[in-house]
Amino acid sequence: MKIHLDSKNTYGTINPKLHGQFIEFLGSCIDDGIWVGKDSTIPNIRGLRQDVVEALKALEPPIVRWPGGCYADTYHWRDGIGDPTKRPVTFNENFGTYELDQHQFGTDEFMDFCNLIGAEPWLNVNLLSGSVQEMKDWLEYCNRKQPTSLAKLRQANGHTEPYNVKYVGIGNEVWGGGGFMTPQQYAMTYRKYATAMPTFKTSLFDQENAYKIASGPDGNKPKERVRWTREFLAALANYRQPDIDAIDLHFYNWNIDHENDTPTDFTPNDWTRVIQDAHELDDVISEQESLITKGLANMPIPESTMDHRLDHIDLVVGEWGNWHRPAFTARPALHQQVTMRDALTTAISLNILQKHCDSVAMACVAQTVNVLNSLLLTDGDKTILTPNYDVFMMYKGHRGGHVLPLDAETPDVETFASVKNNTITVSLSNTAIREPKTITLIFDHNVQLSTAETLNATHVTDYNDAAHPNAVRRHPLAMAQMTGRQQTVTLPAASVTTLQFKLV
Ligand code: AHR
Repeated sequence: MKIHLDSKNTYGTINPKLHGQFIEFLGSCIDDGIWVGKDSTIPNIRGLRQDVVEALKALEPPIVRWPGGCYADTYHWRDGIGDPTKRPVTFNENFGTYELDQHQFGTDEFMDFCNLIGAEPWLNVNLLSGSVQEMKDWLEYCNRKQPTSLAKLRQANGHTEPYNVKYVGIGNEVWGGGGFMTPQQYAMTYRKYATAMPTFKTSLFDQENAYKIASGPDGNKPKERVRWTREFLAALANYRQPDIDAIDLHFYNWNIDHENDTPTDFTPNDWTRVIQDAHELDDVISEQESLITKGLANMPIPESTMDHRLDHIDLVVGEWGNWHRPAFTARPALHQQVTMRDALTTAISLNILQKHCDSVAMACVAQTVNVLNSLLLTDGDKTILTPNYDVFMMYKGHRGGHVLPLDAETPDVETFASVKNNTITVSLSNTAIREPKTITLIFDHNVQLSTAETLNATHVTDYNDAAHPNAVRRHPLAMAQMTGRQQTVTLPAASVTTLQFKLV
């Protein structure tokens, strides 16, 4: 198989935020996962599990969405600030978590976490059991520089400087557990929150700094998702200032109809089906891009430069990943092991998001630790890197790159390439469960191979756990010499490979 790399027709810029993360108080994502507490015997940094922090620091995730998800709609930020011994204890019923909620990881701990791993925070506000005032107060606590009472409270809690939170989600899955609203009801509610959001401007002519993210459609329901976006944008067009930066679509690769298919025990048919199904994200994004373009055409033109600009609405994919059937009954809730099947769908999903970088501005994998399509699993005092972690590490080279179109027919091999700072990064995923595939890359420039890594397993059902933490890890791939501008590579069966070339 041959692939021609067309360096003259690059497009877009891959927003690093397409490699974002999502953490929520579900199962052991935060409590026991990210957060172990200051008095834990597990090594920690101010209560944050040290191994998790270090692994994520190496990954440099550009953005983290928190506190949910569904949980955001039961979350009252004041429960999670101040003296830890005085914080209320509530009960967390979200998604079968069924645990006491001690609120030890709150706003300041989240900001500490983001700061340690180098990520920007995305706060999702509580639309269902909260209020506009609660949202205003939360942002005031986080962002106000001037000595208001809430800014002083933040200072009293040890944080003199404002956190400058920019990304604010207004509601979560409002078509479902987030309120079972109609698009029209949500447009009205959305407007209230968006209009009341403090700006933290220092002059009337400053650009607003909040990036307002509306809850988008259920990406898994083809008819409903079209109707949702069309009607929501039509309803928003009735307002003089629609005041929206992005629509947050959620898409899970559901694998729940096959009783005997588990995360670590599946047949070749299950393998093929789950990998095929991951491609639906591509269609959903294309469809939503076109609905947003049409919806924007009906939006009012801003009347003055002081109005919120509205020439573009970004698409955001705030939750994505594989969701296997046993996750529903797992303890801790939504815990899933990760094999090469998940690593391949993770690579495919990142390819799709990056390919759509002209319209998709951010995306967050669900979820970073111990829940669903995880990058990290914890077990007692051990932190285990899953194969998904390796895929994200292998894709770092695409961040900020321009998409490099590939001219190729490559059955079973998923391809993506980008170029940045004289480096071409090529990712090749061989989805064939048993057959290696040989590919010849043909460049239109002189290049020199700089790195070659592959991720594969002895058996496709292998996974990493505390006893075998490195059963499935990326490793250098032996490469043939280049011939002129051609590089041949043999991709192991069921593998994800990334190659980097310097332009010379
Ligand atoms: O990621 C788990 C849950 O899935 C989130 O809380 C919710 O938004 C979605 O339905």
